[in-house]
Amino acid sequence: MNPFFAIWKKLAGSRVGRSIFRVGLPESSLGRAQAMVSSFLLHVHPAKVHRHSLKFSYTFGLGLISIYLFLILFVTGVLLMFFYVPSTDRAYSDMKDLEFVVSTGVLLRNMHRWAAHLMVLAVFLHMCRVFYTAAYKPPREFNWIVGVCLFVLTLVLSFTGYLLPWDQLAFWAITVGTNIAGYAPVIGEKIKFVLLGGNTVGDSALLRFYVLHVIVLPGAALFLIAIHIWRIRKDGGLSRPDEPDNVLQQIETGSMPTNKSYGLMELAKGTSPAVGINPEDQVSAWPHLIFREILLFMATLAVVLFISLIWNAPLEELANAVHPPNPAKAPWYFLGLQELVAFSAFWGGVVVPALLLVALITLPYLDFKRRGVGVWFSRERKVAITIFTICVVAAVILTVIGTYFRGPNWDWVWPWKEQIVITH
Ligand code: HEM
Repeated sequence: MNPFFAIWKKLAGSRVGRSIFRVGLPESSLGRAQAMVSSFLLHVHPAKVHRHSLKFSYTFGLGLISIYLFLILFVTGVLLMFFYVPSTDRAYSDMKDLEFVVSTGVLLRNMHRWAAHLMVLAVFLHMCRVFYTAAYKPPREFNWIVGVCLFVLTLVLSFTGYLLPWDQLAFWAITVGTNIAGYAPVIGEKIKFVLLGGNTVGDSALLRFYVLHVIVLPGAALFLIAIHIWRIRKDGGLSRPDEPDNVLQQIETGSMPTNKSYGLMELAKGTSPAVGINPEDQVSAWPHLIFREILLFMATLAVVLFISLIWNAPLEELANAVHPPNPAKAPWYFLGLQELVAFSAFWGGVVVPALLLVALITLPYLDFKRRGVGVWFSRERKVAITIFTICVVAAVILTVIGTYFRGPNWDWVWPWKEQIVITH
C-alpha cells in the first residue's frame, strides 16, 4: 500500500480519527459513499461523479482554481489586515512597513496581489470554457447568470483593493476608473459620488473602498459561490455530451439522481436506471475527485508562491493628487474599457459595456437549444462561437493596446522604443 494511504489509514482509523471522520478510510463502495455524505466538508460533493467531469481537458480545473485563489486571497487578506490601517496618513507607510519591518510581509503582499490578478484571469477563462462547451444551456441558465454576477464581483473586488496601497499607481488608477463610472447617464455622477464619498479620491474613498473590499464584496462573493456550487449539484453535475436532452424535465420531475434522496446502497451502486446513466461511467468522488481537488489546490498554491517569490507587487511613490502621471492608466482589466473611452466617453464607457452585460445575461435564454452541450467548439454552434470569439479577441486586443501601446496623452507609442513618462 502506498505510504500516504498507510499513514492516513492509521490516523483516520485511530480512536481520535474515528471521532472526527466516523467511517475511517473507506475501502468499499459503500464506505466511500458513506464518507461523502457523513462529512460536513465533503458532503458538498456527490457520492458518485461522471467520468467526463473528471477530465482535465474538459474544465481545465478553472472553476476550482478560481475557488482556490479566492481562498488564498481570503487567508492572505486577513493576515494583511493585521498590518494595515485604512487612512491616508497610515496606508502608504504600512505598505513600506510590510516591506521593511514585518517578516515575510513582502511575500504576503505579493501573494495577495498576484492571486487577485490570477483570479480575474481564471474567472474570465472559466467563463470562456463554459461558453465554448455550451454549458450555459438548459438546465444551467441560472447558474450562468450567477456566474456573470461573480465575474463582475471579481472585477470590483480587485478594483477596490487597488486603492489600498495609497501610492501613485493606486490613486490615479482609481481616479481614472471612477471617472469611467461617472460617464453613465443620469446616475453616473451619483454613483461616483457615493463610491468616493465626495468628488475626489481622498480619506472617505479609502475607507469606503476598504470596507467594500474586506467585508461587503467578499461576503457577497462567498454567498454567490455557495449558490453556484449548490446549483451545479442540483443541475445534475457538470454538463456532458451524452446528457439526455430531457435533462430539464428529469430535474423537474425529480428523477435526476442529484435531485432525489437515495439510500446509501443506491448511491454506492451508482444511479437510478431511470436516468439512463451507465453505472460504469460513474466513479466514487472519494478518492477520484477529492484527490484531484487536493492536487489542483497544491498546484495553484505553488504557482502563486512561485510568482510571489520572483516578482514583487508594484509600489510607487506616495499618492499625490496634484502630480498625475501621464498617462494615468486604470487597472489592466479595465484598460480595454479605457481605450474605448478614449474614442468616446459615452459609447465606450457606457453603451458598449452595458450592451455586453445585457448580452451575457440574456445569452442562455436566447441560445437555449441543447445543441453541442458538453463539447468544445461544437460545429453545430458556428454562429454563436464566431460572435463570442470576435468579442473576446477584441477585448484582448484593446487591453493589449491600452497596456503597451499608449503613452503620454494617450498617444500611440511603440513599447520597444524608449518611453518617457511625463509628470506635471
Ligand atoms: C468567482 C467566480 C467563479 C467560481 C469560483 C466558479 C466556480 C465553478 C466551479 C468550481 C465549477 C465546476 C467545475 C468547473 O467547471 O471548473 C463551475 C461550473 C460552472 N460555472 Fe462557474 N465559477 C465562477 C464564475 C463563473 C462565471 C463567470 C460563469 C459564467 C458567466 C460561470 C458559469 C458556470 C457554469 C454554467 C458552470 C457549470 C458548467 C458545466 O456544467 O459544465 N462561473 N464554476
